[in-house]
Amino acid sequence: MTNHTPILTSLKSKLPNVGTTIFTVMSKLATETGAINLSQGFPGFDCSPELVSLVEQYLRKGFNQYAPMTGVPALREAIAQKTADQYGVNYDPETEITITSGATEAIFAAVTAVVRPGDEVLVFEPAYDSYVPAIDLNGGIPVYVTLTPPDYGIDWQVVREKITDKTRLIMVNTPHNPTGHVWTTDDLTQLATLVRDRDIWIVSDEVYEHILFDRSAGPGHVHHSLMTHPELRERTFIIGSFGKTFHITGWKIGYCLAPKELSVEFRKIHQYLTFSTVTPIQYALADYLKEPDNYRQLSAFYQRKRDLFLAGLQGSRFTWKPAEGSFFQTVSYDAITDEPDYDLAIRLTKEIGVASIPVSVFYHQKNDYKILRFCFAKDDAVLEEAAQRLRKL
Ligand SMILES: Cc1ncc(COP(=O)(O)O)c(C=O)c1O
Repeated sequence: MTNHTPILTSLKSKLPNVGTTIFTVMSKLATETGAINLSQGFPGFDCSPELVSLVEQYLRKGFNQYAPMTGVPALREAIAQKTADQYGVNYDPETEITITSGATEAIFAAVTAVVRPGDEVLVFEPAYDSYVPAIDLNGGIPVYVTLTPPDYGIDWQVVREKITDKTRLIMVNTPHNPTGHVWTTDDLTQLATLVRDRDIWIVSDEVYEHILFDRSAGPGHVHHSLMTHPELRERTFIIGSFGKTFHITGWKIGYCLAPKELSVEFRKIHQYLTFSTVTPIQYALADYLKEPDNYRQLSAFYQRKRDLFLAGLQGSRFTWKPAEGSFFQTVSYDAITDEPDYDLAIRLTKEIGVASIPVSVFYHQKNDYKILRFCFAKDDAVLEEAAQRLRKL
């Protein structure tokens, strides 16, 4: 026998800073302690029985082999129709719409399609956790623009200063996870002005496009998709997901809308990441999308839950700005304690039985503004009980 170094010890991680995520930590702790889990972002209720029947029907009819690489034509057409109805913008289902295995795959494919080693990528933080690993794996350099509570609005002068000749991509997320912040038309105009005449692409993560609140409060409270700005449409990968819209996060179905030239490159990556996405579900979604009420009622559905949760927090010492979109509410505990947010999230889970996410985890330097994120996509009774427990603090 010869002496040799076991092969695994020589493996150098490509993502040395990635470990067990806070989402796993908090959910595990919630399970162990029996706490109410408002940490991870998924609905606590089931999807429509009609959608389940449709999937079952296609499973039984034998729609069980590979779908086309770009997605089932009927689903691409249904998405084109929904997009045209909702935003008045046309995408060609043949060349500009691709079905993916969740938004996560679409984000990874879009980043990989355009980022080369040494390219700079602007990331607004707090940021959803899949963006930076995708940039890192492609040799890109994340350049951070920090957004702060309570508004999390964008200072466009700061963005201007961060753009260099090396900037190749900007990551956008509206409505925003974790803050619930929503972009305005002014944000779209500012972004368009900054990228004009530059080789900068955009990934716009719009998975919460159907969850917008306080619409009666004024025209700002609608989803301003980047596709609605003609100059932005030309250079943007719009990312969508059915997981958030139809309470089916476990099905992992998403899509990418992008101009033909961008879609060609996007599809080259998608082809070798997953090739195609689960067939019977695509057929079922194509049918289900034909009824717009299936997604149009979502804002009202979640606004009631947001309001119920916030009404329950009245009388507590937490402070907040109501979320404008998404199914997350951030709250400040500044008036209660100066504990680090991570420690408080753990303590609240163990002592009062409510799990949340400390918002510092969404910043690369773990900025602690004393904010916790709660997911209110849960049954009413669960939200009421959680709020009652939090009021004790
Ligand atoms: C902002 C954002 N983007 C993308 C995703 C991932 O979506 P999917 O489950 O379709 O991959 C999530 C899920 O939490 C999210 O919050």
